[in-house]
Amino acid sequence: MAASEGLQLVERDEQGVDKAFRTDVLEGLSQEQKAVPARWFYDEAGSHLFEEITRLPEYYPTRAETSILKARAGEIAALAGPGRAVVEFGSGSSVKTPLLLRAIDPAAYVPLDIAGDFLRASSAELATKFPDLPILPVEADFNRRVELPGKIADLPRLGFFPGSTIGNMVARTAVDLLRTMRATLGDDAMLLIGMDLIKQRSVLLNAYNDAQGVTARFNLNMVERINRELDGTIPVEALRHRAIWNDTYARIEMHLVATRDLRFTVTGKPFTMREGETIHTENSHKFGRRSSNMLLLAGGWTPQARWLDADGHFSLIMARATIPRGAP
Ligand code: AVJ
Repeated sequence: MAASEGLQLVERDEQGVDKAFRTDVLEGLSQEQKAVPARWFYDEAGSHLFEEITRLPEYYPTRAETSILKARAGEIAALAGPGRAVVEFGSGSSVKTPLLLRAIDPAAYVPLDIAGDFLRASSAELATKFPDLPILPVEADFNRRVELPGKIADLPRLGFFPGSTIGNMVARTAVDLLRTMRATLGDDAMLLIGMDLIKQRSVLLNAYNDAQGVTARFNLNMVERINRELDGTIPVEALRHRAIWNDTYARIEMHLVATRDLRFTVTGKPFTMREGETIHTENSHKFGRRSSNMLLLAGGWTPQARWLDADGHFSLIMARATIPRGAP
């Protein structure tokens, strides 16, 4: 197998559809509050729409996190040390990844992603910028423990989880993921993780309700994907993008609102929606210093350093795998 093909670990049915996608959609649409997990946004079209979101004037997280990586490159390098295998959970960031790789002098780069085509394209592009760095893409769902390539078996790892993707999970799932990452990465590992901050409501709401409507297209692409891959008949034009702030859970929620009563099928299974009913498509949790530290500690990671951008909008945290020991 050519190195750029990577490992294929996603289970697909006879039509080439990810089985977990079908299960998640059918179960999610059967619930009282319809919901589809946000990770299914990222097919090829969705991944490109997300890249477009990161360039929007209202969407501050990508620029804020990038500015922290630039400003703190020296401190990050000093904490991580050279010679680590950088394992990125999700392979998307055309800007952030090179910044980190240039900062820390790593021994290998292992991007993990379920969007295989996007993974291979971004790996190939990165290889042109880092011709001497072994790049070992793995097509996998990182919510489960991943078997890392044998070539990095003896290297200490630095997990990289930028973008506040952890914020897409509710606390229980986020802790599960952090623990899974710790199991994937091992006892010597460190983790560099981006976490978006609680801030002025208008700033948050505008970031998910951009004037150009790119976030709306990103949200609606979820049902387009369901229609395309799961033989769905959801009338896309009858759904509207909505983003709200849920203060109880400190999160932005994205929904698709039915503008009239609807009936449709997905893989032959019938569903109905009443006018005003929603499909909940994303949670984007926001954090404070204590809540981010608590989440990391619950997941088996001890925070070592925390940096903010100049506006105080976003945090980047370096943590070390917690070694369990007797304690009060
Ligand atoms: C990068 C996945 C965390 O929640 O801000 C952007 C995804 N959704 N606009 C986020 C997203 C709508 C993004 N994550």
